[in-house]
Amino acid sequence: MLTSVKYILILIMILLLSSCDKRKESVIELKSPNTKISMHFSVNSNGEPWYMVHHKTETIIDTSFVGFQFKNNPAIKEDLEIISIVTDTVHTNWKPVWGQQKSIENKYNEAIITLKETSNLKRNFKIVFRIYDDGLGFRYQFPKQEHLDELVITREETQFKLTDDADAWWIPADYDSYEHIYSHTILSKIDAKENEGYDNTKKNRIPNIHAVNTPLTVKTKNSIYLCFSEANLTDYSDMTLAIKEDHVLQSELVPWSNGDKVRIKTPFVTPWRTIQIAENSKELLTNTLILNLNEPSEIKDISWIEPMKYSGIWWEMHLGKSSWANKNEGGWSGNSTSHGATTINAKKYIDFNAKHGIKGVLIEGWNTGWEYWGVKGATDFFDYVTPSPDFDIKEVVAYAKEKGVTIIGHHETSGDVITYEKRLDSAFAFYSTLGINTVKTGYANHLIDNKEFHHGQYMVNHYRKVVETAAKYQITLDVHEPIKPTGIRRTYPNMMTREGVRGMEFNAWGGGNSPEHTLIIPFTRGLAGPIDYTPGIFDIKFDEYRTDQYVRTTLAKQLALYIILYSPLQMVADLPENYEDNLRAFQFIKDVPVDWDKTIVVNGKIGEYLTIARKDKNSSSWFIGSITNQESRDLELSFEYLDHNKKYIAELYLDGDKAHYLNNPTAFKNKIIKVNHTTLLNVSLASGGGMAIHIKEVANY
Ligand code: NOJ
Ligand code: CA
Repeated sequence: MLTSVKYILILIMILLLSSCDKRKESVIELKSPNTKISMHFSVNSNGEPWYMVHHKTETIIDTSFVGFQFKNNPAIKEDLEIISIVTDTVHTNWKPVWGQQKSIENKYNEAIITLKETSNLKRNFKIVFRIYDDGLGFRYQFPKQEHLDELVITREETQFKLTDDADAWWIPADYDSYEHIYSHTILSKIDAKENEGYDNTKKNRIPNIHAVNTPLTVKTKNSIYLCFSEANLTDYSDMTLAIKEDHVLQSELVPWSNGDKVRIKTPFVTPWRTIQIAENSKELLTNTLILNLNEPSEIKDISWIEPMKYSGIWWEMHLGKSSWANKNEGGWSGNSTSHGATTINAKKYIDFNAKHGIKGVLIEGWNTGWEYWGVKGATDFFDYVTPSPDFDIKEVVAYAKEKGVTIIGHHETSGDVITYEKRLDSAFAFYSTLGINTVKTGYANHLIDNKEFHHGQYMVNHYRKVVETAAKYQITLDVHEPIKPTGIRRTYPNMMTREGVRGMEFNAWGGGNSPEHTLIIPFTRGLAGPIDYTPGIFDIKFDEYRTDQYVRTTLAKQLALYIILYSPLQMVADLPENYEDNLRAFQFIKDVPVDWDKTIVVNGKIGEYLTIARKDKNSSSWFIGSITNQESRDLELSFEYLDHNKKYIAELYLDGDKAHYLNNPTAFKNKIIKVNHTTLLNVSLASGGGMAIHIKEVANY
């Protein structure tokens, strides 16, 4: 229930009179509910708005300015005065439809500050600050007014001025993709040319080599962890951050093809600019700021929204065992003599799922058009409704239904969004009529419609249109090549998971992901929302299909990723035969849930090691995952979070004694032990290794 009481906070209003200017400087202070974080806001003697942020007594964001430049209107950034301040305090709790915890506290103090130009056009806008115990967000609101109507934003000049050359975990400001390996440097050394994913072909989409995509995670010299990102990205473009002098991060919006940043009309609000703040890296992972800054669910009947695990006719195409297309026209789809999505093959996956209790089967390549995917100049080749001749979709869906399995549909657009939007309704109606209520979408191409970036306003609006259309047909989504998550899942809980990360597929053909990759992404991209990483590869070296590529983890680490990388749709990515060959290890994947009552970060250091414990939403069981980078290490784990009055047994899934991600990745062992809240357990993780635990309550030993 809403317990918010509207009242004017006691703000510290320091009235300063500048000697050369009669302008009043009112410094507004707003504190987090626990008072550890505070922010100050004012305008200087030129009427330029600025803010600062402190953590306890330390300045973490120094004087940072904000402002806008427009194509068709003078800039708004100076000559402003504060004309009103309205404050509020809110304390509520809400229950996500699915998530890492069953209940979320929303507790903040707010100040809405109206600024107005003192001369000339007398234009006005508001800045809304909300400050929580785990960070703060602010956004700009532009009301309808005489001199601000239709606008083209050419620059948003929001700054975040750090106080030192902090450690940063970053990917370049690639306007078209988040699929990069993370680099770890100090801010002043950020240079896209040093990032593994940079080459000259990317100059167009990575025009500023001294800029990064958000979320950006940094660690200050005093070991405060900050993550810069945004919440509720609606009808706007994605914010990247340019690294300027004196540790200033400055917002740089992804442009349209003609250079416009945002085309908009008053009244409008911008997305929230967010700073997640934590005293240690563990604390970052349970941050709920971005979700709290989004609107409550628009979807009233949620009965059709179901978290689940899914297998798929998928990895076999990435390995080159089969192809997406059923004929070859020279596209990316590869060897067309062996089409993956046939009726017979789909039934094999359905049987596998039915036998092991895996709910969904994703089928990619079932429709016509794939033969032109990646063929230069080809457009309008997917109609989204015509099955390939060797795939009887009605028969497959009926067979799945009989076996209690659900089919996950697929819309690969190849970045031809013009065509997709034309067919959006018929494409979703087609699946809906068949009773399919989860669809994976994809935009695998450089540029959209041959000219727009994946992260510009054009696509932000497109991705939202797809979420809304899917909701209309009661369909949940897994989006590949997406816009990054900004908490929209709270408002549209059918927007379940997305890629937007360098996922498992890069191990099949892209040179692989390093052992530390999955130790960085929970602390960076993962802070924005669920990741469809597609874990669970058991045949780590897959020499039968390719000898030049392999996964850089042990098998036990693959199990741990189900806990470490949160997603309400979690893939069981390997070929069925590889699981049948190792049922002892597969048992963990069969048992692991995808929806959680609570999440506890047991230990963790970015890039090095991480242990997370999660309690199942639907039982008293706990599941734990630990992973390490290329260093083998011993960890002592405590279980103090277990119910003190209960007895448990723990099934351990461990690296084998001589396991090593390079030369012995599948060495693996199981163990069953008794545990309770006082147990201390020593475990050894191999180089590139990991460990998973399933803890079950028992009446008696
Ligand atoms: C790229 C996606 O990330 C992958 O999952 C998918 O299989 C291919 N595109 C084809 O749509
Ligand atoms: Ca991808």
